[in-house]
Amino acid sequence: MKFYLFLTLPLTAAFTVPTTKSVVHTSKPSTFALHAESAVNGADKKKVIVLGGDGFCGWPTSLYLSDQGHDVVIVDNLSRRNIDTELGCDSLTPIQSPDVRVQAWKEVSGKEMKFVNLDVYKEYDLLVQLIKDEQPDSIVHFAEQRAAPYSMKTSKTKRYTVDNNVGGSNNLCCAVIDSEVDAHIVHLGTMGVYGYGTSGGEIPEGYIDVILPGGRESNILHPAYPGSVYHATKCLDALLWQFYQKNDNLRITDLHQGIVWGTNTPQTIKDERLINRFDYDGDYGTVLNRFLMQGAMGVPLTVYGTGGQTRAFIHITDTARCIEIAINNPPKAGERVEIFNQVAETRRVRDVAKLVADQTGVEMNLLPNPRQEAAENELDVSNRKFCSLGLDPITLDEALFNEVTEVVQKYKHRCDPTKILPASFWNKKRAEECASLDPNSVKINGAASKEAVKA
Ligand SMILES: NC(=O)c1ccc[n+]([C@@H]2O[C@H](COP(=O)([O-])OP(=O)(O)OC[C@H]3O[C@@H](n4cnc5c(N)ncnc54)[C@H](O)[C@@H]3O)[C@@H](O)[C@H]2O)c1
Ligand SMILES: *[C@@H]1O[C@H](CO)[C@@H](O)[C@H](O)[C@H]1NC(C)=O
Repeated sequence: MKFYLFLTLPLTAAFTVPTTKSVVHTSKPSTFALHAESAVNGADKKKVIVLGGDGFCGWPTSLYLSDQGHDVVIVDNLSRRNIDTELGCDSLTPIQSPDVRVQAWKEVSGKEMKFVNLDVYKEYDLLVQLIKDEQPDSIVHFAEQRAAPYSMKTSKTKRYTVDNNVGGSNNLCCAVIDSEVDAHIVHLGTMGVYGYGTSGGEIPEGYIDVILPGGRESNILHPAYPGSVYHATKCLDALLWQFYQKNDNLRITDLHQGIVWGTNTPQTIKDERLINRFDYDGDYGTVLNRFLMQGAMGVPLTVYGTGGQTRAFIHITDTARCIEIAINNPPKAGERVEIFNQVAETRRVRDVAKLVADQTGVEMNLLPNPRQEAAENELDVSNRKFCSLGLDPITLDEALFNEVTEVVQKYKHRCDPTKILPASFWNKKRAEECASLDPNSVKINGAASKEAVKA
């Protein structure tokens, strides 16, 4: 019964509610059924390589693109699964091996997807050969270490994150040039490249009008203002895209994405073997998903500091839709890097926590902040480009919260409560302030808690 929720959402027509505080376009959650009609055929069908296609965003995106009729090749070296082992955590949902996933998709949809185990950073020659062999129209690049907390954990994880992310992006540009395939690169960046609340107004899409000393007007990349080593890699990526576009005429789109929430999409719910990854731990769990998980488990919500941080959010189903929109709207040869803000709305963390607390009855727990960041910030973001290209974004919605809660309930026996508190600290001072946090103090309500501890 659980999965029918998506199909029973009301068939509301798309409409836009302008808000006074922010120009982010919001709308009622749209039905997934509406989008099934846009399936491609003939000339619209694209060959797409999805780098990082085993991950939280990459897997549902691969399924969506395949479902739409595109020809998908997944590349991943399973580094994320290795990091789970290193951290002693696991996805709350039981994700299957890539082979089982691809086979299950074939049984469910009749569609073939290839899986290639390849390290984008370490196996350059294989990457060039793959691009030559596959002749892709587009290459979607999700293959980076994506947790800000993990990137701040130790000097080893800082160095790994910079090497892997910047090295991988540079490899991709070189490989597209060496293979002589005119593939459109679609990269996942982050809203964090802009800094939070530093531009004094609405954050534009990538470029900002400035007046240079001497009075000349210009339109330049928005200043980079990263808040972690992870975010710094996305800023460095952006400079690489700018350089290789200018120097080699590569066609590149950079998508500055907000925090992704949700777990299932209309494709992943078709078979339990297609289930998406769900990270709940202090390092990889993203904020709304962590709260939803904690709410469902009866654990007080781990709000950092005052919860005054304002962040941008997007539902996982929209991540996949946005990627297809980007693929279908490549910049022309010679055009500068296309940049979209891939967000649905902005919300303050404590307001998000309150929504979850009201729905589940759990309390909010204001913890010392493990991150070096402003306690409070405003955030207004433009997302006009995606909206003008037909995205009707899904906003925070209780029906969709319930869907996540049901997933969590189903797999709560797999949760290790000692992984819920923050486990990475931005600097010495923050680590000292968080010294009182005891991972073993977190207890799960309800009958499943005994099994949970040994899971
Ligand atoms: N999840 C979010 O909330 C969010 C928000 C904004 C941006 N993004 C960006 O979207 C992208 C995907 O994020 P995600 O949440 O799916 O992360 P994820 O860790 O679940 O997926 C990334 C995938 O890339 C693979 N990978 C990493 N390095 C690789 C390499 N060198 N070679 C081959 N494969 C490699 C990993 O094994 C993993 O499967 C990231 O670039 C991330 O920065 C994510
Ligand atoms: C793949 O991922 C891990 C990260 O866990 C990395 O250390 C490893 O060297 C990678 N590549 C290969 C070719 O094994």
